[in-house]
Parts: sequence; C-alpha cells; structure tokens
Amino acid sequence: MNLIVGATGFLGGEICRRLRNEDRPVRALVRHTSDPARVAVLKALGVELVTGDLQDRASLDAACDGVHAVVTTAATTISRQPHDSIEATDLEGQKALVDAAVDAGADRFIYVSVASALGSDVHFLAVKRAVEEHVRRSGLTYTNLRPASFMEVWLGPALGFDVANARARVLDDGKTPHSWISLGDVAEYAARSLENPAAANQDIDLGGPAALTQLEVVQAFEDAIGRPFEVEHAPLEGLEAHRDMATDPYDQAIASLMVLMATTPCVVDMDDTARDFGFAPVSVADYAQRAMAPARA
Ligand SMILES: NC(=O)c1ccc[n+]([C@@H]2O[C@H](COP(=O)([O-])OP(=O)(O)OC[C@H]3O[C@@H](n4cnc5c(N)ncnc54)[C@H](OP(=O)(O)O)[C@@H]3O)[C@@H](O)[C@H]2O)c1
Repeated sequence: MNLIVGATGFLGGEICRRLRNEDRPVRALVRHTSDPARVAVLKALGVELVTGDLQDRASLDAACDGVHAVVTTAATTISRQPHDSIEATDLEGQKALVDAAVDAGADRFIYVSVASALGSDVHFLAVKRAVEEHVRRSGLTYTNLRPASFMEVWLGPALGFDVANARARVLDDGKTPHSWISLGDVAEYAARSLENPAAANQDIDLGGPAALTQLEVVQAFEDAIGRPFEVEHAPLEGLEAHRDMATDPYDQAIASLMVLMATTPCVVDMDDTARDFGFAPVSVADYAQRAMAPARA
C-alpha cells in the first residue's frame, strides 16, 4: 500500500491518478475540511480514503498502518485551515509523518521539497530543508524530490500569466533563468521514485528540459499563438517592499518567493536524472502549445 499525503492537492492528486492508472494500491490522507469534489475524484480512482491531519499524530499512525511507502506533497502555502501554520504543519506535521512511517515499519518515504538552487534563506524554504534532513536521518529508504517552479502555477493566471488575453506580468527585468517543470512530470518522478533504485536515498533536484528566463517563456507563448503578448514588469523594489511590509507569515512567504524568483537563477542540470528515470519531460514550448490551444481555436 502507498500512502499519499496531500492527495487533495494538485500534485498529490496527479500522483494518485498515475499510480491508480497502473493499478497500484493507494491510500490517501484527506481532511474533514478537504474539498468534497477533490475527495470524490480520489474515490472514483479507487483510492482508499483515510481521514486525518498532519497535526494529529494518532491519525498519522492509523494512516501509516500497513503501508509500504509514504509520499507527501502536503504544504500550507495555498490550501490551509485556520489551525495550520508553517511551523505546526509544514515543519512539525511533516516530521511527525516521517516518525509515524518509521514506527509503522514502512520501507520508503518520498518527500516533495523545493529546488536546492533556491537555498534556505526564506523561512518557508528553511523549513523544507529541515524536513529533508529529518527524512534523511529517519533510516527509511528516502527520496527528497526538489522541483523547480511548476509551469502550471507560475505560468498561469494566478501569477499574472494571462494566456487567454495574451498578457504576462514578469518579475523585475524578466531575465532570471528558471528550469520550469510541468507538474505532471513532478508527479511522474514521484511515482517512479517509489521503485527506481536510482532514487533510493537521494536528494534529487528536478527541472524541465531547459532553463528559460521569463522573457524567453513569453517568447515561447508568442511563437505558439503567433502574436505578441502585452508584457508588464513588476519592479524588484515593489516586490521587496511588499515582502518587507507583509505581516501575515503566508503573505511574507509568497512575497519572499517572488523576490527570490526575480533575483535567483534556478537552473537544474537534468542530464543524470533524465538518464536514470528515462522519460521525455514537457518543455515550456510544449506547455505553451497546449496552453494556447483554446486561444487558437
Ligand atoms: N508550486 C510550485 O511551483 C512548487 C515548486 C516546487 C515545489 N512545490 C511543492 O509541491 C508540493 C505540492 O504542491 P501542490 O500545488 O500540490 O499543493 P496544494 O495543491 O496546495 O496541496 C496541498 C495539500 O496539502 C494538504 N494539507 C495542507 N495542510 C494539511 C494538514 N494539516 N494535514 C494534512 N494535509 C494537509 C492539503 O489538504 P486539503 O485539501 O485538505 O487542504 C492539500 O492536499 C508542495 O509541497 C509545494 O511546496 C511547489
């Protein structure tokens, strides 16, 4: 049995779908408060549901009972409840899940962290690194997956990338390169890490096939649709001011990530990983073609 924590999220749901497509047994930790539509999708996939919370150790023990592997994609940056916090959930909750997996006699633990190139200066990222370390020291056969930014999140409308209206907002001068990766590819790496010997006891950075600046990404979308985008620049001073003024820890985390994305290259060399995992990842050009299809129709 494979336990997925974060299954009602975008990445966890995609991992469940891939595992169930291969008829592999999946148990998902869901919450009383999880979106019923997302829970229904899991049920329809044939996923066994168990109710719990990363802050409720007894529920984690029950969820881990009899599992071979645990995969956790959970995070509170987007989907959270009033009792969630970066310390209580993303740090202590994830560590409690590792401990529950150890106590239940699980063999394998896959933790979804963030690309190492982004460092640990931002508090939310320091927490990810602390959990990675807890996973490494657990004695479980582990894989810490460290993906670069997801195309579906960062090149989507929530962050000012408005494909339908051919408009994009880029961070500062838009010239910092990132190895944008498709969420589906992260799910594929996670699913394959469960059995791939090359993933055992490894920290693995994940990126797409090439590192592109935001301006190069815009160019890929312009090529896909055959007309120019209207580009707005979000100046670094404004991003920094937003970060420095934020009082809510989540506003601060998001604003800090924006500054980091504007200033810190996140270039992942995928040669070894591509060889070890052996599948063709989605490029920004592929993603742009797919995303622009409705606009072209
Ligand atoms: N977006 C990016 O560009 C990017 C890049 C690198 C790494 N990542 C990492 O990728 C991972 C997956 O992202 P995503 O987009 O799939 O996130 P998401 O859609 O926001 O999903 C988060 C999941 O965590 C669950 N969760 C939150 N608090 C919980 C708690 N106390 N107990 C149990 N479950 C809890 C949520 O459950 P409910 O549905 O019940 O709220 C949901 O299933 C995250 O760890 C993120 O940091 C993201």
